[in-house]
Amino acid sequence: MREYQTKNQVVWFDEQLLREDPSQAFDVDFWQQNDAIIGSAEGRGTTWFIQTQTMQAALRHYRRGGLFGKLVSDSYWFTGWQETRSYAEFQLLKTLADAGVHVPKPIAARAIKSGLTYRADLLSEKIAHAEDLVGVLQRREMSAEEYYRVGVEIAKMHHVQVNHTDLNIHNLLLDRDGQVWVIDFDKCYHQDGTDWQQNNLDRLLRSFVKEKNKRSIHWQEAHFSPLLEGYQQYK
Ligand SMILES: Nc1ncnc2c1ncn2[C@@H]1O[C@H](COP(=O)(O)OP(=O)(O)O)[C@@H](O)[C@H]1O
Ligand SMILES: [Mg+2]
Repeated sequence: MREYQTKNQVVWFDEQLLREDPSQAFDVDFWQQNDAIIGSAEGRGTTWFIQTQTMQAALRHYRRGGLFGKLVSDSYWFTGWQETRSYAEFQLLKTLADAGVHVPKPIAARAIKSGLTYRADLLSEKIAHAEDLVGVLQRREMSAEEYYRVGVEIAKMHHVQVNHTDLNIHNLLLDRDGQVWVIDFDKCYHQDGTDWQQNNLDRLLRSFVKEKNKRSIHWQEAHFSPLLEGYQQYK
């Protein structure tokens, strides 16, 4: 990993993956001017999809959700460069990707300090030909095998002792080869032991139930069994 630093900002980047100027890589206008924007997705904010010189990438600016987020939408308390959201997620993705867990490869992370706070961005691999499980389940049921693979991928992540504190079906992607991917590791962290792992699964189950009530996805409680089977088999 390389670092580019000025007085008030740091960019951490993988020089194999980022050929562009690291000081411009988080500037949506820069990509727009180069006709490199290939799409976008809406979550808390907009995630921009970009064609870089080496690969397709997803560019996200860190934002808060909730009521507090309405006041200070994208500012975080600065306690050190290595404590920033973007640096933490970059490192976590690197560890997971190196361990063979299906997560986006981290390309670059940035933090910009102003006064006592900072703002942050992350550039990571765009998972090709993939859709989140909410999107998939709005169209069709998923097969037992697909659910099984979701369970396996979560078990792989737990093997690396990563606690995904926002494990919901917006943050799980299925690609056209049937591979499952885990995304959105903001605020996630390494944790020893196993007593927290069930919480991830409980949250995931609540997410299926919530989306079922909200937009009648093609899902039933019984579909959680093959997922748990995959999880337990891999563990
Ligand atoms: N690396 C990626 N590859 C493909 N799609 C992505 C990627 N990152 C994000 N997305 C899409 O953008 C949406 C929002 O991104 P996410 O990282 O979950 O941010 P947030 O939930 O904070 O808005 C996701 O639900 C997904 O549909
Ligand atoms: Mg998300």
